[in-house]
Amino acid sequence: MKPVLDWLTKNYPTLIRGLADLVAIPSISTDGEHQKEIEQSAALTCEQMRQAGLENVEVICCGESNPYAYGEWLHAPGKPTVFLYAHHDVQPTNYLDQWQSEPWTLTSRAGRLFGRGAADDKGAITAQLAAISAFLKTRGSLPVNIKMLVEGEEEVGSRNLQMFFRQYKDRIKSDVIVVNDTENIEVGLPSITYSLRGIAAVQVDVQSAKLPVHSGMAGGALADAALALNVILSRLYWNNGKLPIPHFYDKVRPVTSSERKGFRSLPADEAKWRRDLGILPGVNFATEKNGHIYEQTWRRPAITVIAQEASSIKGASNQVLPTASAIVSCRIVPDQNAKEVLDQIQKFLAKDPPWGVKVTFKPQGLVDWWMTDPNGPAFEAAISAMRAGFKKQPAAIGCGGSIGFVGPLAKLFGGAPALLIGIEDPKSNAHAPNESLHEGDLRKLMASLAHLFENLGSLPDGRVK
Ligand code: BES
Ligand code: MN
Repeated sequence: MKPVLDWLTKNYPTLIRGLADLVAIPSISTDGEHQKEIEQSAALTCEQMRQAGLENVEVICCGESNPYAYGEWLHAPGKPTVFLYAHHDVQPTNYLDQWQSEPWTLTSRAGRLFGRGAADDKGAITAQLAAISAFLKTRGSLPVNIKMLVEGEEEVGSRNLQMFFRQYKDRIKSDVIVVNDTENIEVGLPSITYSLRGIAAVQVDVQSAKLPVHSGMAGGALADAALALNVILSRLYWNNGKLPIPHFYDKVRPVTSSERKGFRSLPADEAKWRRDLGILPGVNFATEKNGHIYEQTWRRPAITVIAQEASSIKGASNQVLPTASAIVSCRIVPDQNAKEVLDQIQKFLAKDPPWGVKVTFKPQGLVDWWMTDPNGPAFEAAISAMRAGFKKQPAAIGCGGSIGFVGPLAKLFGGAPALLIGIEDPKSNAHAPNESLHEGDLRKLMASLAHLFENLGSLPDGRVK
C-alpha cells in the first residue's frame, strides 16, 4: 500500500485544488434558481472522474432529475463491485454576513477548509476520487470494481433517485455500498453509521375566515387563526417527557443494553454539546428524563416545527389573521411506519380545534429510517481500513438525520451491506454559515478509502457478506 498512500500525500495539493474548483460552483439545489450551476458541477465532477481514470463517465438525467455524474472501473473480475455515493448539490449560503470568508472560495484556516459544500458533500467526491486515482496512477489498476454515482438533488430529498435506481438497476448493480455523507462523531475519531432516522412531515393549515379584518372591529369576536394554530401546536410540547401523541411510541424499537453501553462509551460532554449546538445559558436540553443525547437523537422519534407563517412582522398591521400555517416535521426511528406516524400526527392535531377553526393537512413527504447490523466481512474491512487511515479504533454510531435511499438501494442490490463512513464532524456547520471540513480528517478519509478498496479486494472469494 505504500506507493498508493505516498501518492495521496504527494498529490494532496492537487486534490485540494480539485475540491476548490467544485466549491467554486454554487450548485444550490434548494431554490430552483441554480440549474446552470448544477449542470456545471455535474460536468466538472465528470471531468474529475475521467482525470482519476474512471471509464464510461457521463452525465445522466432521469425524468425531471438534476444531473447525476456517473463513472465506473470494471477490470477486477472476481472481485467485489463497490458502489460509491456522494452528492454535488449544496445548500444555499444563508446569513451571508456571518460567513468569515467567501462561501464559494475554498479557504484554509486553522486546519480546516471553509466553503459551502466543502463538507456536505463535495469533500466526499474529492476523497473518493483521491483513493481511486491513487491506485490507478500507481498500480494502474484497482483492487475492486467501482461504480461511482454523484447525485445532484440530495439536498431536496433525492426526488428521482429511486426511479434512477430502478431504471439503471443492471448497470449500477454492486456488492457493497459506500456512502460518504455522514459524520465522524469527533475530529480524529473515524465513525461508521449503522442507523438513520426517517422523516414524516406535514403542513398544517388553519383557517377561520376568508379575509383579515381590522382587529379594532373584529378582535375578540373573530377567531384568531394565528393563535389557534399555536394552541394546536402547543399540544405537541413534550417538556422533558414523551410526545403526547397516542400510540406514537408503540412501534419504537427499544434500544438494547449493549447499544446503550455503546452510546455511553462514546465521547460525550454536555458542555461541548451546548457549545456545538449554540444553546444559550439557562436554556435546558429537551431530552427525555435521564435521556442520553445520542440515544435521543439517533434512536428516539422527535417532532420539530420547521416553519410557521401567519403574517410577517415587517408591515404588520392591526388585523385579525384568518389563516396560519406551519410545517411539522417528524424524525422517525426503527420500527415506526412513516405513513402511520403521519396519520397519528394529523389525527392528534385535528382534534378539538380552538373555536372550531378549519384545520387541513398537506403531507410533505416520507423518508424511511434505516438500521443495519454493523458486522460481517464488509464492516470488518471498513473498520480495519478506518483504523489504518485514522490510527484510531473506529466508533459505531447512529445518525439523527436521514439518507432515504440507503435502505431501498441495499434491498435492490439483494441485501448488500451499506458502509456509511464519516466525512463531517461536529464543527462542520453543514447547511449553516462557515461550513468546513477538517483537513487532517480529509487526508485520513482518503487513506481509509484506499485501505477499504484494498481490504475488500482481499476478501476470500470476493464475499462481502
Ligand atoms: N448529510 C445529511 C444527513 C446527516 C445529517 C448526516 C446529520 C449527519 C448528520 C444529509 O445531507 C441531509 O441533510 N439529509 C436530509 C434529508 C432530507 C432532505 C430528505 C435530512 O436529514 O434532513
Ligand atoms: Mn445535507
